[in-house]
Amino acid sequence: MRQQKPVRVIAVTSGKGGVGKTNLSVNLGVALSKMGRRVALLDADMSLANVDILLGLSPQYNLSHVLQGEKTLDDIMLEGPAGLKVIPASSGVQKMAELSSIEQAGVIRAFSEMNQNLDVLIVDTAAGISSSVVNFARACQEIIVVVCDEPTSLTDAYAYIKLLNRDYGLNSFHIVANMVQSVQQGQQLFNKLSMVTDKYLDVSLRYTGGVPFDEYLRKAVQKQTPVLEAFPRSKSSLAIRNLALKIDGWPIKIQPGGYLEFFVERMIQYSSHEDAA
Ligand SMILES: Nc1ncnc2c1ncn2[C@@H]1O[C@H](COP(=O)(O)OP(=O)(O)O)[C@@H](O)[C@H]1O
Ligand SMILES: [Mg+2]
Repeated sequence: MRQQKPVRVIAVTSGKGGVGKTNLSVNLGVALSKMGRRVALLDADMSLANVDILLGLSPQYNLSHVLQGEKTLDDIMLEGPAGLKVIPASSGVQKMAELSSIEQAGVIRAFSEMNQNLDVLIVDTAAGISSSVVNFARACQEIIVVVCDEPTSLTDAYAYIKLLNRDYGLNSFHIVANMVQSVQQGQQLFNKLSMVTDKYLDVSLRYTGGVPFDEYLRKAVQKQTPVLEAFPRSKSSLAIRNLALKIDGWPIKIQPGGYLEFFVERMIQYSSHEDAA
C-alpha cells in the first residue's frame, strides 16, 4: 500500500450527553480551518442531527447515499464556515455493517481519495457506551473525552474510559473540561478523573485544556453559527483556539497505508464483528 499523507483522525466523545461535544467539534474544526488546515467534520451522532443544526445547514444526502452508490462523498459534503467540510453520516453508519465486500471497497476508496485533500478529520460522536459510538471512537487515532463539572459527567466518563480500556484495549485519552467556571476548576476536574483512572485502570489521560462556561456560546447556538464566527473574542472562542493550537501540535501517528482508508476499514470491521456476535 502506498504511503499517504498523514491525516489526523480525532473522535470527540463523552460518556454523557449534553457536555458540549458538538459545539467543541464544530468550533475546533473552524479554528483548525482558520489555521490553514483542511478539515472535515463527520457528524456521527445518529440520534440527533447535530452539526447541521449548529451550522444552519440542511443536508439532502448523507453517508448512506454514498454506501448505496447513489452519491459520491463529494456530493454529500457540505461547506461550513472557514472552509470546514461537513460530512453528514446519519443512518449511513449503521449500514456499514451490511455492506458487501465490493461495496465496502467502494466506501474505502471514496475515503482514501479524500485523503489527499485533508489534514484533519474530526468525528463528532453520540454520547455513551452503545457499540456504534464505541466503534467510532476505536477507529480514530486520537480520542478526546469531554467532561463537565457534574457528578454524573465524571462517573460516566470513567465508565466510558474503563469500557474502552478493558474491552477494547485503548489506553490513551485526551480530556477536555467544558463549561468550567475557572481555569483551576478545569484542572481539578481532570485531576479527579485521572486519580481514579490511575488507581483502577492502566490508561494514560492527558489534559488538553478547559473551555469556560460562556453565555456567548449559547447565543451563538441560537444564531446557528459557531461561537468562533459569531463572537470570536468571547472567552470560549479564545479557549477553543488554544485547544486547536495544542491539538495541531500533537505528534502525528505515522502508520502504513492510507489514513482515512484505515479509519473506514476499522469502522466496517468493528461493526461487522458486532453483527456476527
Ligand atoms: N462552554 C459552554 N458554555 C455554555 N454553554 C455551553 C457550553 N458548551 C455547551 N454548552 C451548552 O450545552 C448545549 C449542548 O451542547 P452540545 O455541543 O450539543 O453537546 P453534546 O454534543 O455533547 O450533546 C449547547 O446547546 C449549549 O447550550
Ligand atoms: Mg452532539
